[in-house]
Amino acid sequence: MLYIGIDLGTSACKFLLTNEKGEILNIVSEEYPLEFPQPGWSQQDPADWARAVASGIPKLLKGFDASQVAGIGAGGQMHGLVVLDENDRVIRPAILWNDGRTQPQVEYLNEQIGREVLSARTANIAFAGFTAPKILWMRENEPELFARIRKIMLPKDYINYLLTGVHCTDYSDASGMLLLDVEHKCWSREMLDLCGITEDQMPCLFESWETVGTLTASAAGLLGLPENVRVCAGAGDNAAAAVGCGVVGTGGCNISLGTSGTIFITSDHFSVDSHNALHSFDHADGGYHLMGCILSAASCNKWWMEDILHTEEYAAEQAPITEDRLGKNDVYYLPYLMGERSPHNDPSARGAFLGLRMDTQREDLTQAVLEGVAFAFRDCLEIAKAQGIEVPVSRVCGGGAKSPLWRRILSNVLGIPLELPMTEQGPGYGGAMLAAVTCGEYPSVAACAEALIRVKETTVPEPALVQAYDGKYRTWKRLYPALKGIL
Ligand code: XUL
Repeated sequence: MLYIGIDLGTSACKFLLTNEKGEILNIVSEEYPLEFPQPGWSQQDPADWARAVASGIPKLLKGFDASQVAGIGAGGQMHGLVVLDENDRVIRPAILWNDGRTQPQVEYLNEQIGREVLSARTANIAFAGFTAPKILWMRENEPELFARIRKIMLPKDYINYLLTGVHCTDYSDASGMLLLDVEHKCWSREMLDLCGITEDQMPCLFESWETVGTLTASAAGLLGLPENVRVCAGAGDNAAAAVGCGVVGTGGCNISLGTSGTIFITSDHFSVDSHNALHSFDHADGGYHLMGCILSAASCNKWWMEDILHTEEYAAEQAPITEDRLGKNDVYYLPYLMGERSPHNDPSARGAFLGLRMDTQREDLTQAVLEGVAFAFRDCLEIAKAQGIEVPVSRVCGGGAKSPLWRRILSNVLGIPLELPMTEQGPGYGGAMLAAVTCGEYPSVAACAEALIRVKETTVPEPALVQAYDGKYRTWKRLYPALKGIL
C-alpha cells in the first residue's frame, strides 16, 4: 500500500509518497506566494493551496501505481483563518499564523476578558497569530464579510474539505484557535459566543489519525486516485512534525527549525504553565504538549541570504564561520522580523543587528543571525525549565536543521544533544504516518513511530562552547527590553 503525506507550509506545499515500510518513494514541492498587504500583515489565497494540491499529487504519483494509494494525511500551518460562505466558497484571503494585525483584539481578550478566564476556558491566552483574535478583527473591520461566514476552518482543513467534502479539523490544530477547550477536547461555547459565532459554523472535531472521509468523485478524478482513498484528519504542522520525528508519548521534545521555530514538549497528561507563556495544546497521538513558538526562525536566514545578500549559497556563506569564531561573536541579532510570539507576545517587536564595528565582516552578521535564532529558542527552553520541565535531549527537524553549523550552535546555546532523524521531512512524513494509521497499517501513532523512526545523527553540546554561549545569551537577553518601544 502507498500513503501520501502533505505538508501545507507557508511558502510551499510538500507532498511525500511512502510505502507501508515507511520508505519515502517520492517528494514534490509546489511553491506559492505570501502576501504582506500592510506592515505586519500576512495572508495567503487558499486557491493557491488548492492549485498546489491539484498539480502536486499527480506529479508525486508519476511512475507509481496510483491504485495502490490507500490514505492521505496532512500537516498544515496552524492558526490561519479560512472562512467559507454558504456555497463553501472562500470569503477572503486566509489570515496566517504570523500576521500581527490583531494587537487590539489580543489586548481586549487578555486584558478585558482576562488571561485567567481565557486560560480556564481554553488552556491558553491570546496571541496575535491565534484564530479567535482574527475572527474578532473581521467582525470589527469587515462586518459585511463576517456576516457571510458559514464555516470557519484552518488551512489543512480546507484541503481535507476539498478532498472529502467534509468540514473537519483535528484537536492539535484546533487547539491553536483559542476556541477549543483543550483539556476536554470540545469547542468552548463561551469563546464561540464571545467571537459572535456558533458551533455549526465550526468544523467537526477528530483525532488526527481518525478517518474523516474518502475522496469525492471529483477530487479522485482530478488527482488520478481511486475514490476509496481514506483521508485522515491530520494535524497542525508542529504536531505532525513531532509525529514524523517520533516524538510521541510523554517527556519527548522536538525542535522545528522551519519558517517558524518551535519547541514542542510532549506529555500524556494535560498541563498549563503558570504564566501561559507556552501554548498548551493537544497532540496528534491523543496526548498533550506544551509549545513555545518563535515567529521567524529559518526565515531569518532566508531573508538574510536571499533578500539581503542576494545569494542562495547557504553553505558557502557559512563556510568562513570557523571553529575559532564560535562563542566569540560580538555582533548580536534579534530575530523579530514578524514581531514575536514566545515569550514576548509582542507583534510590534522588530529585528536588529547590534554591536557592529568597523572590522565587522559579512560572516559575523551571518553567524549573528544563526545565533540570534538559537538564543530565541533558548528563551523558550528557559520558560519550560522554570516550570520544572526537564528537557535532556531533543529531536530537530525543518529546513534550518540541514545545516550542521546551525545544529552545533543550537545544541551549544541550549546545552542539550540534538538528534536528527533519518527522515528530515517532519510534517509531511508525520502526515503519511497518520495516513498509514488511519488505514490500519499500524494500531496507533505510537506504534507507527516506534516502527519507523530512527535517529541518523546526534549533535552533542561541548562544555566550553556551552559556557561561552551562556554568557552571550545573557547579553543578548538584555537587548529586547532595552530596545522595546524605540523601534
Ligand atoms: C505554531 C505556529 C507556527 C506555524 C507554522 O504555533 O504558529 O509554527 O504552525 O506553520
